[in-house]
Amino acid sequence: MNPVDIITKKRDGGEHTATELYFLVRGMVNDAIPDYQLAAWAMAVFFRGMSDAEATQLTLAMAESGDTLDLHDAVAPGVLIVDKHSSGGVGDKTTLAVGPIVAACGLPVGKMSGRGLSFSGGTIDKLESIRGWSPDLSEERFRRQLREIGLVIAGQTADLAPADKRLYALRDVTGTVPSLPLIAASIMSKKLAAGADAIVLDVKCGRGAFMEKLDDARALARLMVAIGAGAGRSVTALITGMEQPLGNAVGNALEVREAIATLHSHGPADFQALVERVSAEMLLLGDPACPSLDGARQQVQKAIGSGAAFEKLVAFVATQGGDPAQVYHPERLPSAPVQRTLVAQSSGYIHAIDAREVGLAVVEMGGGRKKKGDAIDFGVGAVCQAKVGARVSAGDPLCAVYAADEASASVALSRLGAAWRVEEGTADPLPVILDRIVGG
Ligand code: URA
Repeated sequence: MNPVDIITKKRDGGEHTATELYFLVRGMVNDAIPDYQLAAWAMAVFFRGMSDAEATQLTLAMAESGDTLDLHDAVAPGVLIVDKHSSGGVGDKTTLAVGPIVAACGLPVGKMSGRGLSFSGGTIDKLESIRGWSPDLSEERFRRQLREIGLVIAGQTADLAPADKRLYALRDVTGTVPSLPLIAASIMSKKLAAGADAIVLDVKCGRGAFMEKLDDARALARLMVAIGAGAGRSVTALITGMEQPLGNAVGNALEVREAIATLHSHGPADFQALVERVSAEMLLLGDPACPSLDGARQQVQKAIGSGAAFEKLVAFVATQGGDPAQVYHPERLPSAPVQRTLVAQSSGYIHAIDAREVGLAVVEMGGGRKKKGDAIDFGVGAVCQAKVGARVSAGDPLCAVYAADEASASVALSRLGAAWRVEEGTADPLPVILDRIVGG
């Protein structure tokens, strides 16, 4: 088989066979196909797209391109391995609360998570703001912890989906990241390789997400649900709003504090609602005894109300080397020394908060990386005090800024000042769940 034939076939709008896609993926992993040919093919896919069947075959080939995990020996017989994936957004600390809740309901959660990317934070960076906590676990420790605690969150340990690593790096520098089939295959191949039987996808949509338009988010969600069905997995996709930051806190330790508050039922309403919904969707997919979404939601609320979810978080943090005292006393988490408040310049209603600008302001303060390997300042960030739909008077607080020094606080204040839009007419609060797509 010749890579040139595969490139020209896609360039001319043809449909790949499974054999062609497996050949291509093998060439990504053993370097038999050079970068320029893979890049040309990715660009052809960008313009010509893929059928659901092609995207499914590409996903399976990428999932099988390296190690694959089977975690069933670490859970009780008959229990499904349910994973969740968020496409990333500003203030998205959902895994920090969902993991302990679902595990406290008896469904084991063994997850591989990532670090921050551009304006969007990452679960591993957030958890590392807890003193001593480590994402580096051997496969044996991962399995033991899943068996004993029922909750593990680790960095990518095994050599999962190496074809995706190569292709993603090429897409990143050839303008081909925003291709729906390539995004879907990239995400789903990693979930399949990590051993998920069922997956809840949180596809974020809006200025604070990588997918800005609702139609694009829906198309991506539909494709991933179809790939899941083609691969024999149950997938539920929620499309969730990311026009403004999720919850109030943006910044690593601040987000851990907010997740802890949520496990005590004191989370911001939008975040609490999303956490409960994602948790319930995971239970519905993974627990054969779970009768309905409402039944699942009741289980979730019981796990929060009884304190079981919070205790699960404590056990999980301690088992991965973290200091449980910082979970019991979140005020002991890292906190930036300079605190300033952004106030409303005029009276009115909040019509918009540019979530991307909030995320970028936090990165600028040191809460994220501007280049690979940058150290993170865990204590910096922003806490929204008034969100879209709220009425404010001139001088009311809009946002608290936590900065390392006066200079970065004033840069952040002016950037954040431009992110809040206050106008005279009323504005409705923004919905969190925009749509739900399930396999047919
Ligand atoms: N996240 C991924 O893992 N892959 C993509 O292509 C885009 C987002």
